[in-house]
Formats: sequence, C-alpha cells, structure tokens
Amino acid sequence: MWIINSRYGSPDFFETLERELDSLITGEPNLIANLANISSWIYHALPDLNWSGFYVWSEADGELVLGPFQGMPACLRIRPERGVCGRSYTTGQTVRVDDVHAFPGHIACDAASRSELVIPLKQGSVVKAILDLDSPTPSRFSERDAVELTKIVDKLARRLFPSA
Ligand code: SME
Repeated sequence: MWIINSRYGSPDFFETLERELDSLITGEPNLIANLANISSWIYHALPDLNWSGFYVWSEADGELVLGPFQGMPACLRIRPERGVCGRSYTTGQTVRVDDVHAFPGHIACDAASRSELVIPLKQGSVVKAILDLDSPTPSRFSERDAVELTKIVDKLARRLFPSA
C-alpha cells in the first residue's frame, strides 16, 4: 500500500515528491512499470490534473508514442513538429502553457484540458520521452512548478535512461 504526499503548496512538497518518486522506482529495472507508477503518483500528488503521462520517442517511427498515463484515453502518436509535446521534444526544454487554446498547434486529446506542462526526459542531450501534465484550470502550472518538476524529472531520467 502506498500513502501519497498531497501537501502541495507546503514548502517541502517538491523535496518530498523527489524522494517519493526516487523510492518508487528503486529496485525495478522495467521502464514501462516505472513510467506507469510515476504517472500515477504525480496524478495523485498534484491537485487539479486531468491527465498525467508519458510519450516515448520511437527511433524507428520518428515520432512520440503514447506511454503509461492516468486520465482519459489520448492520441497515440505525436509527430515532433506537432503540439506542446512536440515542442518540448524538439527543443529539449520544459514547455509551460497557461492557455492551451492560445498555443498554435496544440493537440486537444481531452477537451477539458486548459493548461499544460511538458518536461523532457533526456539521456545526455538526447530526449528519450516526455512527461505531459494537463489541467482543466487555466494557468494551473506556476513557474515554480515548472522549475521544481524539471529538476525532479532530470534526476529520474538519469536513472530511467542511464548513459551507456
Ligand atoms: N496536448 C498535447 C497532446 C497530448 S495530450 O494532452 C495527452 C500536445 O499538444 O502535445
């Protein structure tokens, strides 16, 4: 049984979240299993999300392919030039969108989504996957959310995609 820290807004929230996610993947080498549990943990720890999940880069197909997630069924594949996820993939940067309706090329998987945060998972400088968080509330994600979650995801990516 897991007890999820949902003290979002407390000063140590992100520090605790980092420890929790680190311990969640400890001892399990399977990527899909780890991405599944991470998406679930984040979905429950951060309030006001309607989607939390991963798209994994397929070298063979040249596009992002839907990975483990929580929320409504989503589009299966995203080309690198498309959407907020594609922007994060191609730039290798976290992309925070206050109003998805104002983002040219935004892909609406769930009509309820109003704001979005996408964070790349890198192996060195190569993006291997992206974490996509959606909220039904406009401007749900603060700059602090983006900075702190990017630090956490960077650390997780080094464990999930270790350099050879
Ligand atoms: N909105 C994303 C697509 C993925 S879904 O939100 C789950 C985008 O524009 O890339």
